[in-house]
Amino acid sequence: LGDSARSQPQTEPQAVDYPLTRSSVFLVLTVHDDASSVDTARATVAGIGDLVKDVALRDLTRSVSCTVGIGARIWPALVRGPAPAELHPFRVVEGQVHTAVSTPGDLFFHIRADRPDYVFELERIILAALDGAVHVEDETVGFRYFDARDLLGFVDGTANPVGAELPEATIVGAEDPAFAGGSYLVVQKYLHPLDQWQALPTEMQEAIIGRTKPDNIELDDATGDAQKSHKTLTTIVDADGTELDVLRDNMPFGRPGAGEFGTYFIAYSRRLWVVEQMLERMFIGDPPGKHDRILDFSTAVTGSVFFVPSASFLDSLADDDAVPDTTGTESSPPVSGDEPVATPAAPSDGSLGLGALRSTPT
Ligand code: HEM
Repeated sequence: LGDSARSQPQTEPQAVDYPLTRSSVFLVLTVHDDASSVDTARATVAGIGDLVKDVALRDLTRSVSCTVGIGARIWPALVRGPAPAELHPFRVVEGQVHTAVSTPGDLFFHIRADRPDYVFELERIILAALDGAVHVEDETVGFRYFDARDLLGFVDGTANPVGAELPEATIVGAEDPAFAGGSYLVVQKYLHPLDQWQALPTEMQEAIIGRTKPDNIELDDATGDAQKSHKTLTTIVDADGTELDVLRDNMPFGRPGAGEFGTYFIAYSRRLWVVEQMLERMFIGDPPGKHDRILDFSTAVTGSVFFVPSASFLDSLADDDAVPDTTGTESSPPVSGDEPVATPAAPSDGSLGLGALRSTPT
């Protein structure tokens, strides 16, 4: 460790920037509304480093990783302290034709490895440690498809930031010092009517995505009010004209025998609002009404937001009496339009009063 890393141990990120792997599991859980379940959940996420080691050492290629995200509903009870400035439940985005739904999720585990047996083993061990304290909302097993293609047949992940741009795009810094080293995480599970997509001529598919299909070359952006491609709608620039990237590690999943074909969308970002703006441009359209045509062939069936704290922040949750050091913040202001994430007063029925699982009717 260099001196700067040693003097700021609280900012060591989780394995957010892990290279793309061949295999993964996306696990979305809700925690039961009682103190013992929350304690079990806290101890498990705090000990995740050791659980990963139990499996990782058996993989000589060193491909095993797991990142843990914590949702807004469970944050106050599990962390026992203020929440990151932008953390709130997934906001429904309702376009004229398509809707980005919001679904429950208190904990998220993004388990990655180059072999499915390692992924399976780590998931098994994590769920055993959680010991019935959780309900599995969704478990999706993803696989790498040929040369990093999605099931629509396009190479997916090309525009991801690399090098120095990667932490700049994904890791919270001085803007929210108590949560430096963490990332916002947005996940959505999409289902594709693959036969309808495959019936489109390749040129039309390419115009929808904004890249050529065989060789993955960018097409020119449509201008003015013309129908924009997926690539153009998801390009976000700030007031100075700087492009704000996110890190995606989408994976295909499916069961051809059940007619299920999907893309698991997952994005890590330093700024939650950037992903939200992408979703608005896709679902509402730019100009409004001209939604992303990828959605005519992709239905979002889940949608959840998490915060992936730094590895050291997670570790510190293990200490029974310790509340992680959040003195760097001037307490996080509630985001307008959402319930504030505040430390709850426990009701007298023995539950923790964690609140409704669904924040917004879908
Ligand atoms: C680019 C597929 C959903 C954000 C792309 C590309 C493909 C793709 C093939 C072009 C190659 C690349 O740069 O990776 C899909 C599929 C989706 C999906 C199959 C779901 C069905 C989303 C969602 C978001 C998003 C929900 C954001 C909320 C982006 C971004 C880019 C991109 C930021 C890069 C744009 C650029 O060139 O700067 N996607 N995507 N995608 N997508 Fe998606």
